[in-house]
Amino acid sequence: MGLRRVRMVGALVLLVALVALMSACRGRTNVANANAQGEQLYQANCAGCHGIDAAGGISVGGVRSGNLRARSLDALYFNDTHLISRSILDGKDEEGKDLDAAMPRWRGKLSEAAVTEIINYLRRLR
Ligand code: HEC
Repeated sequence: MGLRRVRMVGALVLLVALVALMSACRGRTNVANANAQGEQLYQANCAGCHGIDAAGGISVGGVRSGNLRARSLDALYFNDTHLISRSILDGKDEEGKDLDAAMPRWRGKLSEAAVTEIINYLRRLR
């Protein structure tokens, strides 16, 4: 192999490594953005009744809001994202019974994707 050729291969390897690094960084930024979005959605729509820290226990029309931090939420809803999502969108408890009307029904107000973002955020609150 001539020196020129070695240099060219070297440059190519460097370029591939750089592109790989850049896409890895981009992936990380997306994850961070998704988490920030879930937090923002929670703080804008839910924190008023469930607390900035999501620990709940706030009285809303005589009913106490639930604790939405990861351990409590997952224990109550059997670690089931679908059941948690249903409780937020349709106001159903873990057995499918209606939650108190003090808890708004979010279907039509928040998209399912937005609710999933919120759940992902809550799951990080250990
Ligand atoms: C106007 C006040 C209010 C707002 C705003 C609100 N909630 Fe609630 N939420 C409540 C109350 C009160 C309960 C308890 C209902 C019950 O015990 O039947 C509740 C219950 C829940 C439950 C069920 C918890 C359990 O213990 O079974 C979940 C999950 C929940 N809320 C999530 C959310 C999310 C996510 C948002 C924001 C998108 C939100 N809530 C916004 C008042 C509110």
